[in-house]
Amino acid sequence: MKKLFAGILSAVMMFTLAGCNSSTTSDGSEGNSSSSASTTSSDNSQSNSSSSASTTSSESSQSGAASSNNSESKSSSTASSPTETSTDSTPTDLPSEGGKTLVAVYSASGNTKAIAEYIVSATGADLFEITPTEPYTSDDLDWTNRNSRVSREHDDESLRDVELTTTTVDNWEDYDTVFIGYPIWWGIAAWVVDGFVEANDFTGKTVIPFCTSSSSGLGQSGKLLAEMAGTGNWLEGQRFQSRASEDTVKEWVDSLDL
Ligand SMILES: Cc1cc2nc3c(=O)[nH]c(=O)nc-3n(C[C@H](O)[C@H](O)[C@H](O)COP(=O)(O)O)c2cc1C
Repeated sequence: MKKLFAGILSAVMMFTLAGCNSSTTSDGSEGNSSSSASTTSSDNSQSNSSSSASTTSSESSQSGAASSNNSESKSSSTASSPTETSTDSTPTDLPSEGGKTLVAVYSASGNTKAIAEYIVSATGADLFEITPTEPYTSDDLDWTNRNSRVSREHDDESLRDVELTTTTVDNWEDYDTVFIGYPIWWGIAAWVVDGFVEANDFTGKTVIPFCTSSSSGLGQSGKLLAEMAGTGNWLEGQRFQSRASEDTVKEWVDSLDL
């Protein structure tokens, strides 16, 4: 009996031990593989692949977008800068909104005309030459001769009404800035310009006198012309040496901030 019980007991223990080993091995291998597989594949692949993929794609797309934005903003700023600059600067470079500039000049021997041309270059203005019907010859201009034409006109104001080829400027109404140039004769504006000033209406226009001379200043020349015109907003004006340089003239024009 004892032997039979011991045999049955040992047989039960052997089955029990065999079942435990099998279950442990099976659970361990399944648990480990499934858990590691699911964790790895799920967590890693999801987190890694999705996060790294999304991060990468997001970063790359973001950085791509950023660089594309950058490049857009760079290229757009590069592209737009000149446009903006030119758009911004163009209107301020114009004399005034929608207005045009005229340089009207009388010059007996070329000095004042050269200044006028410098002003034209600096402003893009139109040039209008005030020309006597009977031009002054060098003999006419000989102020050392008491009988020369200019000396007689100087001595007798009634002779200063110099006939001009024309005083009419095409599209006069389009100009809102008018430079008026002349040489100084005996301390005042060469009276050849008087007829032009008297014949035109300067209402609504800014008028800027300029002159050349050997040594005299602008003096009252601009003021006297303004009185003669009776209209327009006359600025102080500027005297130049007979052979003033283009740079000097351009500097003055720039200072006017037209
Ligand atoms: C009749 C006459 C009078 C002049 N009177 C003066 C004068 O009073 N003061 C002066 O500095 N220069 C005087 N000048 C010199 C001129 O103003 C100067 O040479 C001027 O640049 C000439 O300009 P234009 O070449 O445009 O005619 C006179 C010249 C002439 C012909």
